[in-house]
Amino acid sequence: MNYRHAFHAGNFADVLKHAVLARILVYLGRKDAGYHVIDSHAGIGLYDLAADEALRTGEWEGGVGRIRAARLSPALGDWLAPWQAALRAVNGGDDLLVYPGSPVIATALGRLQDRYHFNELHPQDAETLSALFAGDRRVRVVSEDGYITVRAQLPPRERRGVVVIDPPFEEPGEFDRLLRAVHDAHKRFATGCLLIWYPIKDIAAVDAFLKGAAEVGYPRLVAIEQWVREPRGDGPLSGAGVLCANPPFMLADETEAILPELIRLLAVDEGAGGRVLRLAEDS
Ligand SMILES: C[S@@+](CC[C@H](N)C(=O)[O-])C[C@H]1O[C@@H](n2cnc3c(N)ncnc32)[C@H](O)[C@@H]1O
Repeated sequence: MNYRHAFHAGNFADVLKHAVLARILVYLGRKDAGYHVIDSHAGIGLYDLAADEALRTGEWEGGVGRIRAARLSPALGDWLAPWQAALRAVNGGDDLLVYPGSPVIATALGRLQDRYHFNELHPQDAETLSALFAGDRRVRVVSEDGYITVRAQLPPRERRGVVVIDPPFEEPGEFDRLLRAVHDAHKRFATGCLLIWYPIKDIAAVDAFLKGAAEVGYPRLVAIEQWVREPRGDGPLSGAGVLCANPPFMLADETEAILPELIRLLAVDEGAGGRVLRLAEDS
């Protein structure tokens, strides 16, 4: 377990993943009834952008940093608004000192009636995460394998919520494990939202994963992908995607409308691009 998200927090891939997560949470929050968030690979929750790890890669500057420096169109501003609200909540205003990871975005946008199950396998990171949420009675932090946690927690008693699966892709076979998790989630919690992050390195592996996911049986299934340079198998991460089952109804349309601007803003070279894939009939 070498992957440390502190080197990457706030990069272009986090922008897409966290902006979509924030939109899902706002959608779930439209009903008063509480919802449940299960985050299987949660990380440490909050990342200091002046810390050594962030300074060494400077990745956040090509992600959240560029968004913050840009003048956004009204459409992209609206699309990013829930995520930006979480950024402001944890920074106490418009300064950008810390970057919130998925668990902190979730709780920042949540309400008293919502519940959170955060899992992180790395023992030290799990402790850091646990300390961050000490005193927040909505949150439970555990430390076990992320896929085991997903199976064990579904379905949540609220019967509403989102499962976030964001593995580090350090070990071979991650797409196979993800596909099994899509099957598990559908079997146990077919009406729940699912948000899965994946890197775009091996395009054949991505396509096989998406094809497999499309066969699981979700009525609405959308993949959103963005690459900041021509996707390559080696070197730094060029692109990433999120697969969303049961997403907010307008997610595909709204994302299609803003994606060209987001691609331009975060592009590293002219090979940058992106796509929205509707993988099921009602998407
Ligand atoms: C990409 S990071 C998570 C970032 C976080 N979801 C966010 O968006 O802020 C992946 C995390 O998974 C943890 N991890 C690695 N293997 C795991 C496993 N088998 N189960 C659960 N967590 C694992 C790593 O320690 C790392 O913190």
